[in-house]
Amino acid sequence: MVRRTKYKTWIRMKKLTLFFLSSLLLLLVVLFPINIYFRVLAGILAFPFLYITFVLSYSIYQFSSVGGNYQSKIHDLIVSKVNCNGKGTVLDIGAGSGSLIIKLAKSFSETCLTGIDYWDENWEYSKALCQQNAEIERVFDRIDFLKASASELPFKDGQFDIIVSCLTFHEVRDEENKTDVIKEALRVLKPGGQFVFLDLFMDENLFNGEKELLNDLKEQGLSKLNSCELSQEMKLPKVLLGKKVLGNAMILSGKK
Ligand SMILES: C[S@@+](CC[C@H](N)C(=O)[O-])C[C@H]1O[C@@H](n2cnc3c(N)ncnc32)[C@H](O)[C@@H]1O
Repeated sequence: MVRRTKYKTWIRMKKLTLFFLSSLLLLLVVLFPINIYFRVLAGILAFPFLYITFVLSYSIYQFSSVGGNYQSKIHDLIVSKVNCNGKGTVLDIGAGSGSLIIKLAKSFSETCLTGIDYWDENWEYSKALCQQNAEIERVFDRIDFLKASASELPFKDGQFDIIVSCLTFHEVRDEENKTDVIKEALRVLKPGGQFVFLDLFMDENLFNGEKELLNDLKEQGLSKLNSCELSQEMKLPKVLLGKKVLGNAMILSGKK
């Protein structure tokens, strides 16, 4: 039997199920022969739930390989920004189900790679899933998957030549200041090493504003720092451009 890779999307099925069931319940209340005020109230409340259910389902479709395949396309974009001679050490912070790090392993055939992730019950990813995907893609022997938190990386200063991360810094719960999580990533990057980070860097509630973030990172003594909005790098479907989806996504890249 041919084994297929399973790369889960960034939208949790648990979340979609919750909104879908809540919408269904509210619609049932509307149809139920009870007090008319309850029925009207349930009808009004059903709208936002139905809308969120639609946005979540359509985003899953666009991110997955059966739809627009945007998750894979975004990982390809990150890989295209990595300037690698094919060798060296690579770290992916928040490996998820392994898609990005496996693409890097396939593109740069002599690199030695490490993928770290917290893999807690909030997400539908796991270390075993990453290992299984790497095995199917035949890059298992070059990737080390490790359970760790991005807020406290179990590595020495300057250990990696290349560090990437996709939509992970803002998810780190054990560090309130998400800019400090980026600084922790830069700590384990070699002087002269390269980084490519994609995250919701334009969301002021998460990263204190783009200007402040860039100034803060410049103070880390980086020799090069570029920023670009994801929506300017690739054409995205309208629903994915929502502020709660990828509307605030930006790529930061550069050298230490
Ligand atoms: C939106 S997913 C992105 C996954 C992957 N980077 C990708 O692009 O497919 C966010 C990831 O952050 C991980 N994460 C959350 N908190 C973390 C932490 N403290 N340390 C490391 N990873 C964490 C989650 O487990 C999840 O895999």
